[in-house]
Amino acid sequence: MENIEENSFLRALVVFDNNRYDDRFKTDWGFSCYLEGLEKTILFDTGGNGKILLDNLEKAGISPKKIQVVVLSHFHSDHTGGLEELLSRNPAIEVWVPAYFPENFKEGIRKKGARVVEVTTSRQICRSAFTSGVIEGPVNEQSLVLDTPRGLVVITGCAHPGIVKILSRVKELFPKNFYLVFGGFHLGGASPKEIESIIAHFEALGVKKVGPTHCSGDLPRKLFYEKYGEDFIQVGVGKEIIIR
Ligand SMILES: [Fe+2]
Ligand SMILES: [Fe+2]
Repeated sequence: MENIEENSFLRALVVFDNNRYDDRFKTDWGFSCYLEGLEKTILFDTGGNGKILLDNLEKAGISPKKIQVVVLSHFHSDHTGGLEELLSRNPAIEVWVPAYFPENFKEGIRKKGARVVEVTTSRQICRSAFTSGVIEGPVNEQSLVLDTPRGLVVITGCAHPGIVKILSRVKELFPKNFYLVFGGFHLGGASPKEIESIIAHFEALGVKKVGPTHCSGDLPRKLFYEKYGEDFIQVGVGKEIIIR
């Protein structure tokens, strides 16, 4: 895969997902997305398995050394599991974690030589990239917010606090239009009625494009697809999204 094209703002590549997209990449339960083109190169979540993460990065021609920042959405191993092996290959990484992460996990990061940044409220990570801050839910979680020329791009890990709650919070923090929301929406057990209501909220919030994956569930993905049509992005491991 070639490097970021000239005059594109952002390249996102899904490097860990239980959903398949490109057969050259391995699927496994979890989520991770690589982002380049911003001021800093970011990996959002690390999937559940370091070997698969590193294999997939290698398949994509991405050296672990290129990654400058890791943002971990929440303390579930299908999002944090790849970190240790990644830091073994490149300890010069800033790891942004919700402040509630266990001390021994944070200490483990520091022992590798990496820096821990503890997140509570929304903060800028680098130019055009922000954390939503930790949003309360059954599991507290942070999402990634990118301010692109097309509008906001929001990337979620599992969206345990609720995808609509997350987007509503982001809307309060950033008075801009939503261009794209992708990642885990955590709607596996939701009824058709609940899903319809969530899709209606997406429309009311003006979300232009969606890419539900990981723990979003098959029925929600289908219903989002039916509503969004060509603005539905089929996300899975190996999926590349370029934003100009
Ligand atoms: Fe997850
Ligand atoms: Fe989770």
